[in-house]
Amino acid sequence: MTADEVPPGVDVEKPSAARVYDWYLGGSQNWAVDREFGRRAERVWPLIRPISRQNRAFMNRVVRAALEAGIRQFVDLGSGVPTAGNVHEIVRDRWTAPDRRPAVVYVDYEAVAAAHSTLILEREGATDWAGLVRRDIREPEAVFADETTRRLIDWSQPVCLLMITVLHFIGPADEPDALMAAYREKLAPGSWLAVTHGTCTEDAPPERAAGVRRFVDAYRDTSNPAYLRSAEEIRPWFGGWPLLEPGMTALPDWRPSSPVSPLEAETRPFAWCAVARRP
Ligand SMILES: C[S@@+](CC[C@H](N)C(=O)[O-])C[C@H]1O[C@@H](n2cnc3c(N)ncnc32)[C@H](O)[C@@H]1O
Repeated sequence: MTADEVPPGVDVEKPSAARVYDWYLGGSQNWAVDREFGRRAERVWPLIRPISRQNRAFMNRVVRAALEAGIRQFVDLGSGVPTAGNVHEIVRDRWTAPDRRPAVVYVDYEAVAAAHSTLILEREGATDWAGLVRRDIREPEAVFADETTRRLIDWSQPVCLLMITVLHFIGPADEPDALMAAYREKLAPGSWLAVTHGTCTEDAPPERAAGVRRFVDAYRDTSNPAYLRSAEEIRPWFGGWPLLEPGMTALPDWRPSSPVSPLEAETRPFAWCAVARRP
């Protein structure tokens, strides 16, 4: 699929978080309205592209660590438009158990993300172990009951549940505490819950802090209004499960695979990440 083809249900008049995020990451599944929004957002808050890349790098590190820990099932909520380094690519490249198959389920409600994810999995011949569920993550029962989820995921076994750069689109009216509890309850012992979330800590430089707030305000005009949250608001979502080392950190500081660059260091006040393991 090229960006000239507009899949059914895609509104190219209004920017969407999935397509704008694809633009931040250097992808091609975005339209003029998304790029225009992305450029405006970048002028307001120039760290958006570095922080998007770090979110993706964190997700990559988590998936690799989960595989090393023996987890074979991955559910990626708010998976977005598939760009380089997607979950199923990491799993495919690192899977070493020929007698068992891994499982990856992507969940996103956005038309381009859904269409493109399906197409990529079909082209790669990966549909027997990976699939796209086009659902709203605010309806966990619908996600669990979806035919693709049921076909691929065995909830009695450990799952790595990824919620990367998506929970800031869940507003207070969506009752995020109850939503997280519903997902936690579904996970078997040994499962991992990985979260990243936008924030603005007290040590953020004032100019950058003002920028990130204007940036978040800009999302009020998209299909996906966004919210920043503090560590105190995010921590209860792990239900008291122990956090894997090094606990809740800024994105560059969770098991970095290379030295943190000065640009990466600048993003520290603006996102939290953590991974919990169900005892
Ligand atoms: C910023 S992107 C992040 C994509 C991916 N997780 C990553 O980190 O590269 C957020 C994604 O969440 C999706 N999303 C937001 N709210 C959602 C909801 N309620 N249900 C399903 N998907 C949602 C958007 O469509 C978008 O694709």
